[in-house]
Amino acid sequence: MVRHMDERAGVDPRRTDELWLRESERYASTHPRCLQLRERARAHMPHGVPMSWMASYFAHPPVWIDEGHGAHFTCADGIRFLDTNVGDKSTFCGIDPEPVVRAVQRRVAAGSQFMLPTRDALVVAEELARRWKLPSWQFTLSASQANTEAIRLARHATGRRKVLTFTGNYGGHGDEMLTAFAGEGRLSYLGLTPAADRDIDVIGFNDVGALERVLAAGDHACVFTEPALTNEGVVLPEPGFHDALRELTRASGTILLLDETHTLICAPGGLAEKWRLEPDAVVVGKAVGGGLPLGAYGMTAELCEAFERGESLTGRPGELATGGTLFANALSMAAARAALTEVLTPDAYKHASALGAELADRLEAVVAEAGLPWKVQRLGPRSGISFGGRLARNAAEADADEQPELNALLRLCLANRGVWEAISTAGPALSVAATRADVAAYVAAFREFVTDVTGTG
Ligand SMILES: Cc1ncc(COP(=O)(O)O)c(C=O)c1O
Repeated sequence: MVRHMDERAGVDPRRTDELWLRESERYASTHPRCLQLRERARAHMPHGVPMSWMASYFAHPPVWIDEGHGAHFTCADGIRFLDTNVGDKSTFCGIDPEPVVRAVQRRVAAGSQFMLPTRDALVVAEELARRWKLPSWQFTLSASQANTEAIRLARHATGRRKVLTFTGNYGGHGDEMLTAFAGEGRLSYLGLTPAADRDIDVIGFNDVGALERVLAAGDHACVFTEPALTNEGVVLPEPGFHDALRELTRASGTILLLDETHTLICAPGGLAEKWRLEPDAVVVGKAVGGGLPLGAYGMTAELCEAFERGESLTGRPGELATGGTLFANALSMAAARAALTEVLTPDAYKHASALGAELADRLEAVVAEAGLPWKVQRLGPRSGISFGGRLARNAAEADADEQPELNALLRLCLANRGVWEAISTAGPALSVAATRADVAAYVAAFREFVTDVTGTG
């Protein structure tokens, strides 16, 4: 591996090099079937995986899955893992939540797709409206698509082209959103249209001065952001940031679009409920589908009126560009109804957040005991380690603090100790199916990693 570690991480790069070799050999020797499957798959799938992230977000090869239950899955080599990636938040309900399994079995036997509405869709829309205090909802198959449509709605409703977002705010795989996430030369995403950044302005998270300056022109359709950034580790808003954001968007007639795809794991109505935010539109996805494909966006009555109106404020006639053949299919809606009404209960959120807090407390204790400068992130059920000695306030700080090799080594060491850690941009999250024993298992594996990496064993 190329070494990019610096002294701020408080570990010796030579030691981590040795560990990387030792742990890689251990991983290879315990995963012969997974590695064989990957070799076979290379003939028919780029990087030997059906979706590139399955290979690109870990430095070690992926495991191939046989089955999963609750907070654990078993790979093709028969090794059982505690899953703290939780499908990058998409299996926050647990891997096989019983109400979702039942609802899906029933629905699939009665028809899973009609391109017509089922009663489940109505219940799901009513439930999301109650949780996010936004009356009207539309459905897609993913949060990427929901964000794309919500941004289109904002442009249509305001008659404005430009969108403002924050560096490090990942909204999905559309050209425009990826360009914004990559920021000024931060990441090189290939294959995007060169004009994708034409209508996107990107500023630093928590930079109220820049927000004020950029919005003053009054030519942005929306500000599009997660309430706290979750794809750069965790970047929390500073006190007053959300108040300023709401005030400035209102004053400039700009729609505030909050993406709660990840942060909805924090409370029944996401961080909007927890922090009393008042967005004009909200995007959700992942966990609300109970593990099945689903994205959704909610809107105010005014936005719904614009949605239904056949022409924009500028008087241009037409139809808002939304929809897809399998969007809001009966199967996804049945799963979402069961997930929202039977799994994602207030008690389930309390349980997962309590586990997240316990995990963060215990990680902090391990780090302090080892005398390391690392900081521990907290966001409800989710935690994570900042190796740079501070909690980043924006993507620039998060980038500066990155320790890619140490990050990769942590994931490999945990995998060798029965914990499937989150993808490299995230930290461990506990699903509603996890227990205190799972927290203890994570902490034990993390403690071993710390002992090994500091040479104190
Ligand atoms: C905050 C956020 N929004 C939207 C998305 C897009 O979700 P999907 O990949 O399910 O379309 C992601 C994906 O990681 C995300 O992290």
